[in-house]
Amino acid sequence: MELAEHGTAPWWQQAVTYQVYIRSFADGNGDGTGDLAGLRSRLGYLRDLGVDALWINPWYRSPLHDGGYDVADYRDIGELYGTLDEAQLLIDEAHALGLRVLADLVPNHTSNEHAWFRDALAAGSGAPARSRYLFRPGAADGEAPPNNWRSVFGGPAWSRTDDGEWYLHLFDVTQPDLDWDNPEVRDEFLDVLRFWFDRGIDGFRVDVAHSLAKDPELPDVDPDAQAITSGNDGSHPFWDRDELHDIVRDWRRLADGYDGDKVLVAEAWVAPDRLPNYIAPDQYHQSFNFDFLTAPWDATARRAVIDRSIGLMHEVGSVPTWVLSNHDVIRQATRFALRGADDPIRLLADGIPGDVDLRLGLRRARAGALLMLALPGSVYLYQGEELGLPEVHDLPEEVLDDPIWTRSGHTIRGRDGCRVPMPWSRTGPSFGFGSGPGWLPQPEAFGDLSVEAQAGVEGSTLELYRSAIAVRSTRLADSLDFEWVDSDADVLAFRRGGLLNITNLGREPVDLPTGELVLASAPIVDGRLAGDTSAWVEQR
Ligand code: NOJ
Repeated sequence: MELAEHGTAPWWQQAVTYQVYIRSFADGNGDGTGDLAGLRSRLGYLRDLGVDALWINPWYRSPLHDGGYDVADYRDIGELYGTLDEAQLLIDEAHALGLRVLADLVPNHTSNEHAWFRDALAAGSGAPARSRYLFRPGAADGEAPPNNWRSVFGGPAWSRTDDGEWYLHLFDVTQPDLDWDNPEVRDEFLDVLRFWFDRGIDGFRVDVAHSLAKDPELPDVDPDAQAITSGNDGSHPFWDRDELHDIVRDWRRLADGYDGDKVLVAEAWVAPDRLPNYIAPDQYHQSFNFDFLTAPWDATARRAVIDRSIGLMHEVGSVPTWVLSNHDVIRQATRFALRGADDPIRLLADGIPGDVDLRLGLRRARAGALLMLALPGSVYLYQGEELGLPEVHDLPEEVLDDPIWTRSGHTIRGRDGCRVPMPWSRTGPSFGFGSGPGWLPQPEAFGDLSVEAQAGVEGSTLELYRSAIAVRSTRLADSLDFEWVDSDADVLAFRRGGLLNITNLGREPVDLPTGELVLASAPIVDGRLAGDTSAWVEQR
């Protein structure tokens, strides 16, 4: 099968990309951790789901202090996941099935077990090996961190080495920040990109794409502007600085030198009107649309986000991406049942509220999927959302692995609840994830949500996703047309490719427009679209 081209547009423009959190996708060797063997054995499932591409979270050698976002060797596969040869097989087998493969580039920081950081520590203060990172003397006679920057995971962003110097880590202490003013760092990452492009990788999702440049003076930051979303005009000392775009231009030149439309996707948590700065013919092709992810379940808010996303990307000659979930946020089947969503990581910080209605959450997640899959641009799905998996909010404290849990002094549980291993079958020690228990325990409810329990079952969430992806790729993927249709305040309705998508985000039923029903996220009764339901109608 040929890799799909949608007309003359590049493949990624309206692609559906499926995020594989490899550690929790499928365990081929029964050691409790997902791996390449498991992923390879499930490629047929992804092809049948109808997606165009996979994005695989970091699969590199890593001590896994931050789920693999602490890379010890960018040119090798982590031993729990397999080998470089298996990665090559995975890439080739995916291609043979018509699936593209995106890897994850982690350029802001390495692991503290990376050879460079070990050398830096061993070399001592002032040595050139330290200039690949941000080592500085401390303030207050060396006793205090060089400035007031805080780690995203909690606590100061600086740690002191045995010889008294401090090093910067915007994330965990095990994730020292690289100094991108050092040409050696720039060359190294170009070489890493080359390494994987040469092996057939079709592109990269770039981790914390808005953090690479730091103000060389390392000034104190406004204490209220530390959050990962704080950059808003290019002047923040470490988020979203304008200098970082030159780094990306080098990567894009390299990517453009390869055949086959390599793609670079930015993970940049920046203000919506700063996002277009990242998208240009000489920078990223795409950027995740977190504005859509964090929008509440509300028609007015979502309409505004859709309009703004399409408008901003149009200005820079691109198309939006749409995303409702990933490995860092509370799964939408739970999130849509909670009040507010502006901080989807911390929503469950105090445990799950007693009055949360998970059936409502799932109903909205299904409607949200149909809405999202109707929009023009590309869609990113996170593994398990096609099963309607909820957030596992009650993992026992002793299994929590997210550095946020430790760095917050055990006050914020972190992101493990959306990283629980996938259930493939109704029964078995880890519901078919592997031959023994998985690295995080799954709740009993996962059996009935498993692939086995849903495959071929009319009305299941899995079949809803399959049908919606099929309709999208046959009916909507050739054109970017989009036209709002007048509707009630709680309803979003728009036309694309001869289909009308209508989503009722309110509670009261509304009339379904005339036409032939193509697909609905919940049963249509008496020609009425119930609350929290989305449908596609064919109108000739
Ligand atoms: C964003 C990744 O998605 C997240 O999982 C990770 O913890 C941070 N970047 C640090 O690499």
